[in-house]
Amino acid sequence: MSNRADIIVGLQWGDEGKGKIVDNLAQKYDIVCRFAGGHNAGHTIVVGDKKYALHLIPSGVLNPNAVNIVGNGVVLSPKDFIKEMSQFDNLKNRLFISDRAHLLLPYHAMIDQAREKMKGDKAIGTTGKGIGPAYGDKVARVGHRAGELRDPLKLRDRILEHFDMNAPVFEAMGVEKPDSEELLNELQEYSKALLEYITDTTQLLWKALSEDKRILLEGAQGTMLDIDHGTYPYVTSSTTVSAGACSGLGLNPKDIGYVTGIAKAYCTRVGNGPFPSEDFSEAGDKIRERGHEFGTTTGRPRRCGWFDAVAMRHAVRINGVDRVSLMKLDVLDGFDEIKVCVAYEKDDEQLNFVPYDMDGVKPIYKSFKGWQKTEGIKEFDKLPQTAQDYITALEEMIDCKIGIISTSPQREDTIIR
Ligand code: GDP
Ligand code: IMO
Ligand code: MG
Repeated sequence: MSNRADIIVGLQWGDEGKGKIVDNLAQKYDIVCRFAGGHNAGHTIVVGDKKYALHLIPSGVLNPNAVNIVGNGVVLSPKDFIKEMSQFDNLKNRLFISDRAHLLLPYHAMIDQAREKMKGDKAIGTTGKGIGPAYGDKVARVGHRAGELRDPLKLRDRILEHFDMNAPVFEAMGVEKPDSEELLNELQEYSKALLEYITDTTQLLWKALSEDKRILLEGAQGTMLDIDHGTYPYVTSSTTVSAGACSGLGLNPKDIGYVTGIAKAYCTRVGNGPFPSEDFSEAGDKIRERGHEFGTTTGRPRRCGWFDAVAMRHAVRINGVDRVSLMKLDVLDGFDEIKVCVAYEKDDEQLNFVPYDMDGVKPIYKSFKGWQKTEGIKEFDKLPQTAQDYITALEEMIDCKIGIISTSPQREDTIIR
């Protein structure tokens, strides 16, 4: 009988604070794996006065004893990955990349940005990193995998062939065919820097499970950005929900243990698309200011609003969440009134689920009394009574235990109940 792998997954529109909790829990795990997304992700970890922003490297990297795996479900930009690696020493034998992970190359970012520009006011508001085009190539079966870096010359020829076959598309997007010699040099550089990390990570994980190693699977983005279950087409291009952890790493559902869902005590979204509980008043601005709600990857101001219990129930069910980790409770310190979206209204009808079409959905709110200070508190019983009441009410609304509460960006300011 082998061990099981636990999952951390975002329950809202990303940036819930996954990085902080993965780092906190990573101290108890032998292996931490990313299973989806690319460098559109920005996971922040604060240890003492040092702040790290991780985009592709799993958030277990700050635990010197943890091995970190980038799974086949990730789209990997070699250039950005190499840059990110340079922050850390001694990654040898502590970092592995799946040979089946798809490569995200500079032309993917150019296509992403060109498409967004063409869409004008219907733009998704992507990070512009090339995520959609890279996954698009994977699904269209014209992508390139990390394992191809084993033979840069052959990879160069395949890329150039791809350019020739799709010349009109590249031309329309204003993307020039790379110079053959320059491209080869670039690929050889990637190969030199990454080859020793590229391997069959599924075999590695199966072996680790059979040896009862403790494994943590780190989600990227959030449930409402999932390609199938999010607010399509205003989503990312990967399976961000817990089910993606299996296909994104080569595990089966029976390999999965405990699922922790990460959610803010309020709600944010960066980029365009529906966000029923968005607050356009001063309260929204106050949340943005207090929560430093500016993107880790793009620096864009995040749209801010109230906890959406309808979307959260959807997320808890889809991910099979065992416990929720409620983040950034301290950001709500000092508010007189705190609102929660308890149902939606659309065409004079009350909805208790996320509908196919979110257009015209309005929030129905319930108000809660605020509190003065939760920042830095490490025990549930020490939280102000109104904060405890807020958490208990949320648990009832989402039908899930809130087992972790975070009261500052610091690793140790975390209540585990
Ligand atoms: P991720 O993408 O889910 O890992 O989240 P991000 O790192 O993009 O955004 C979360 C932000 O909130 C980061 O700047 C964290 O340092 C910060 N953060 C995490 N937990 C807390 C918390 O409990 N309180 C406060 N004030 N900030 C937090
Ligand atoms: P983490 O892992 C928040 C959003 C973008 C845009 C949409 C599509 O840090 O939580 P893409 O570049 O993926 O094609 O953009 O998804 N988005 C995120 N928002 N956190 C993220 O990651 C995100 N990754 C993508 O803003 O709305
Ligand atoms: Mg983030």
